[in-house]
Amino acid sequence: MTEHRSEAAWHFTMLDQVDSTQDWVKRNLSALPDRAVVAASSQTSGRGRLGRAWQSPSGGLYASILFKPAPPPEYAPRVSLALAASLAACLLRRGIPAWIKWPNDVLVEGGKLAGILAEAGGYGETWLILGIGVNLAGAPDVPGRSVLPPVAWDAFGTPPAPRDLLEELLSEFGALWPGVMEDPLLRVSGILSDRLWMKDRRVCIASGNEEFPGVVRGISGDGGLVMETETGERVFHSGELRLS
Ligand code: BTN
Repeated sequence: MTEHRSEAAWHFTMLDQVDSTQDWVKRNLSALPDRAVVAASSQTSGRGRLGRAWQSPSGGLYASILFKPAPPPEYAPRVSLALAASLAACLLRRGIPAWIKWPNDVLVEGGKLAGILAEAGGYGETWLILGIGVNLAGAPDVPGRSVLPPVAWDAFGTPPAPRDLLEELLSEFGALWPGVMEDPLLRVSGILSDRLWMKDRRVCIASGNEEFPGVVRGISGDGGLVMETETGERVFHSGELRLS
């Protein structure tokens, strides 16, 4: 069952089970408007960053947001970071101590509650699809994962219904970033500085084929991670943070 509903700037499509909302949006790219939001009650082939799977049982929030045309390419990391900051704001509002793990995960108590996958493409007409998955009821079992364990919202309080959270999240995100040519990080410097995971603490970043130990210092104006490494301050634009 598909429902189309326009709400403010967002155009919602609510689906039952799909393979992946990212792939559904890609298949329907030409028919969907800018700022289409496609959510599914569950996914059979949910995808995460770095080619990982994203387990998507019913009860969680699984949604993809389409920007068509895409924002300027240099904004893409900032847009997904701003979406993570918006989700963190929804959690903090309820007294749940959320952290933003660069580049765009949302953590609570050392576990990963939500992740964001950004995919872009197009010739002539460009597009950016931001996919967000939030564990609401029951953390999925992810065996052998080298990164942080998953956690779910229900470990910290009664979770909102997926659709309610989606609307709250997009209202937050839309207020932060009203226009495609605006800087997505303009209004989130406070939350990024206060709630940046491992700020001023030692971590290791795996970037390219190398690992760099260092201390997390903050987020650069273009959405990179500022780290104090053995060879001085460096800004990383890709990579994965690990506990050292
Ligand atoms: C990550 O690895 O942290 C990113 C996870 C992104 C998962 C979401 S769920 C909705 C959308 N559809 C997908 O297949 N993936 C994203």
